[in-house]
Amino acid sequence: MMNKSITALYTNAKRPATSNDTAETSSHNQQDNEIPSAHLRRKNKRTMDNGEGPPMKKGFGAIEMVQIVPQKARYTFADLGGCESQFLEVCRLTMHLKHPEIHSTLGIQPPNGVLLHGPPGCGKTMFAEAIAGEFELPLIRISSTELVAGISGETEEKIRLLFQKAAQHAPCLLLLDEIDVIAQKRETAQRDMERRVVSQLIACLDDIGRSVSHPGSSDQDLIIDTPILPINRPKHFLVIGTTSRLEVIDSALRRAGRFDKELALGIPDERARTKILEIVCRGLRMDSNISMKVLARLTPGYVGADLQALSREAALCAVNSVKLLEVEPRLGSQ
Ligand SMILES: Nc1ncnc2c1ncn2[C@@H]1O[C@H](COP(=O)(O)OP(=O)(O)OP(=O)(O)O)[C@@H](O)[C@H]1O
Ligand SMILES: [Mg+2]
Repeated sequence: MMNKSITALYTNAKRPATSNDTAETSSHNQQDNEIPSAHLRRKNKRTMDNGEGPPMKKGFGAIEMVQIVPQKARYTFADLGGCESQFLEVCRLTMHLKHPEIHSTLGIQPPNGVLLHGPPGCGKTMFAEAIAGEFELPLIRISSTELVAGISGETEEKIRLLFQKAAQHAPCLLLLDEIDVIAQKRETAQRDMERRVVSQLIACLDDIGRSVSHPGSSDQDLIIDTPILPINRPKHFLVIGTTSRLEVIDSALRRAGRFDKELALGIPDERARTKILEIVCRGLRMDSNISMKVLARLTPGYVGADLQALSREAALCAVNSVKLLEVEPRLGSQ
């Protein structure tokens, strides 16, 4: 059972409107959800000499490819089935984002990161997004493969910028999807670059909550289209890493103070499968004698993605039977 008092504490707490929110320009995101959006753009010194034309290829040329735009999450906890105990745990872990005064009053360090792990298709990415949706937090979501670059030092620079950006939008969630791509054990790493990337990630995690980098203050090459944050704005954000290969993650990252907590989304049991089926089939028109409980009993080992595929397959069968009903009589008359 979910602890209702904890969830109520969160859902009732609205994010205070700041002048920044209204001052933000750009993007359809703002109309939808009033969550600030941001773009990275080059300073003129990186353009051609006359200040016009395309940017010159120089150094970290690919950094501008990282689109760091806080989004409004598409899901909430109501869109996930069978994860009640994880929801409760997450409520505790995200408490400092909605109520920073609790941790500051008690004088304790809030958590910096959570690792969500489980087999492919068990809903890790969806769960991470649902946390942002449930607590109305801006979500900066990036697939870790997007951070990997060919040029030496570029991946580390992208990671640094990403964390800088998250700090500017704090309180928010930073989702590093498939984090194993950039966080593999250093002792088995084949290249120096991989070790440096893990070290950079560790450094960034250790820095959370210590400082807020203001646009352009530390990076002379970039202007970030967001206003400078008020001093008293909470600086904490939570990094969520998802992986289906927990065992390959570097042990230093799994240390307390970095990814403080590891949440397992395992293979759902029969009760969880019933709930997932109810969710994935909720838009479907079905015969009244179909029982989700029976379906759940017949599908041991299925994860959420499998159950969704099952519902799609069933829908496709229904479409095919309609087609056959239409075509068969015509074929018969020939
Ligand atoms: N608990 C759940 N409740 C409802 N739907 C679910 C659940 N788990 C998974 N799904 C369905 O499965 C789909 C895939 O989920 P998701 O992409 O989050 O899995 P994943 O664990 O991140 O997989 P991967 O490891 O391959 O990235 C979702 O879009 C959703 O439709
Ligand atoms: Mg995923």
